[in-house]
Amino acid sequence: MSRRIFIAGNWKMNLTLSSSLELAGGLKEQLNGTNDVEIAVCPPSIYVQQVAALLKDTNIGVGAQNVYHKDKGAFTGEISVGMLIDAGVKYVILGHSERRHILHEKNEDVNLKILAALSSSLIPIVCVGELLEEREAEATYKVVGEQIEGSFANVSAEDMKKCVIAYEPVWAIGTGKVATPDQAEEVHVFIRNLIEKKYGKDIADSVRIQYGGSVNDENAKEILAKPNVDGALVGGASLKVTQFVKIVKSA
Ligand code: 13P
Repeated sequence: MSRRIFIAGNWKMNLTLSSSLELAGGLKEQLNGTNDVEIAVCPPSIYVQQVAALLKDTNIGVGAQNVYHKDKGAFTGEISVGMLIDAGVKYVILGHSERRHILHEKNEDVNLKILAALSSSLIPIVCVGELLEEREAEATYKVVGEQIEGSFANVSAEDMKKCVIAYEPVWAIGTGKVATPDQAEEVHVFIRNLIEKKYGKDIADSVRIQYGGSVNDENAKEILAKPNVDGALVGGASLKVTQFVKIVKSA
């Protein structure tokens, strides 16, 4: 079973409108036509519409970094799935560790968002990963297992096929401490086995699992060479055209 490598850039709360468009423009120039890899950028929501317009009809998709699970109504400050789709968005990052740990999102919240995204055509990129103290206490599988179970509750087999998972060990995010390729592979295999138990081998074999956490143009190739690492969710290094392009090319 061959899974198409998927490299996504998570811009987090960075850049301005003009630097977002400059970055997207640079990527468009250098990556348009790179069809063997799936590529996406995830700008802050206020910029998604303009970035999506600039990248329209290219092979670079646009994702959001969050969404609310309700269609509409009195939810001050939130953005719906329909609004993102209207703005040209194709993917949505859900359950990122910064949302879990800084904004206190629980697996149940992530689950509602996944179901909302799937009820429309948004592709969820669902993040899971353990804290350093959890790894040190040998609780990685327990934590990641619960995140997968809770986040994907009530997701049908048909819908599971559309989801992307990102394993992002929290201790590796923004720290320069990348997981070793073996550490990543180990957890990716664990996640794939969980999916297989719940959905069967065909679906488990088709779901892409990205690695995220201090991926850069120097370490990407080695991590992406692992059989169960199907791409990367890149933070800091996705803010520079040259670095992101090199990561995509190394895939
Ligand atoms: P860094 O690549 O900056 O470590 O961030 C990873 C990340 O959180 C991507 O979602």
